[in-house]
Amino acid sequence: MVEMIKVSRNYGTDIKALTDISLTIDTGEMFFLIGRSGAGKTTLLKLICNMETPSNGLIEVAGYNINNLKGKKLAHLRQKIGVAYQDFKLLNNRTVAENIAIAMEVSYKKPLAIRQTVRDLLLQLQLTDKHNTITEELSRGEQQRVALARAVANSPRLILVDEPTGNLDANTTERVMNLLSRRNKAGATIVIATHDPSIYQKGNHRVMELRDGTIHSLTRSKAS
Ligand SMILES: Nc1ncnc2c1ncn2[C@@H]1O[C@H](COP(=O)(O)OP(=O)(O)OP(=O)(O)O)[C@@H](O)[C@H]1O
Ligand SMILES: [Mg+2]
Repeated sequence: MVEMIKVSRNYGTDIKALTDISLTIDTGEMFFLIGRSGAGKTTLLKLICNMETPSNGLIEVAGYNINNLKGKKLAHLRQKIGVAYQDFKLLNNRTVAENIAIAMEVSYKKPLAIRQTVRDLLLQLQLTDKHNTITEELSRGEQQRVALARAVANSPRLILVDEPTGNLDANTTERVMNLLSRRNKAGATIVIATHDPSIYQKGNHRVMELRDGTIHSLTRSKAS
């Protein structure tokens, strides 16, 4: 699903956020990215969804060289990728339901299907009572779950989640991970950047540690 060959990303002349990353993420995999703050996790996710462009190297997503795609083809591929950003990027003056619905409206889903999906997601993430709340009135943990709901609403084939549980208690973390596991079992490829070992130690997943923008290790977490 994702293929990176010798990918680097620099900012200006001094900052090497990522250097020479070669990596394959298989279709249907749940893949974890770990590493200290500043290691390059967010940069790597942004490269995969074309929010950032590489300084060097090649990135293929679903068989397409994403940095050469333009116009409709790029828009089409982007609709198959759901992203929950570390800083959420919610529309602050809109309600929770509107924020989630937007992901589906851009791909012309029917209003009834949109309403149903929004309701289901809010139920799964224990946000039902926030349906009509303006997102800037939510706690960070609530905003984080809205960002996740928006990322998965359109049933994307590739889901990128940046720190999905950073502001959550253990119980809510489990709900979030259950939702992602269900999507993964239904065939979605999922890449998760995290500082929370509890979310990858429970399954048998590949875990890649970035250190100073390079791959420090690529191991498999043990199934428990
Ligand atoms: N837009 C930017 N301009 C300049 N430097 C940047 C930019 N984005 C990221 N960086 C730098 O690139 C490096 C990697 O940042 P990145 O956000 O990918 O780290 P991270 O692993 O996601 O960290 P965290 O765990 O804190 O989220 C850092 O040194 C950061 O300061
Ligand atoms: Mg980050």
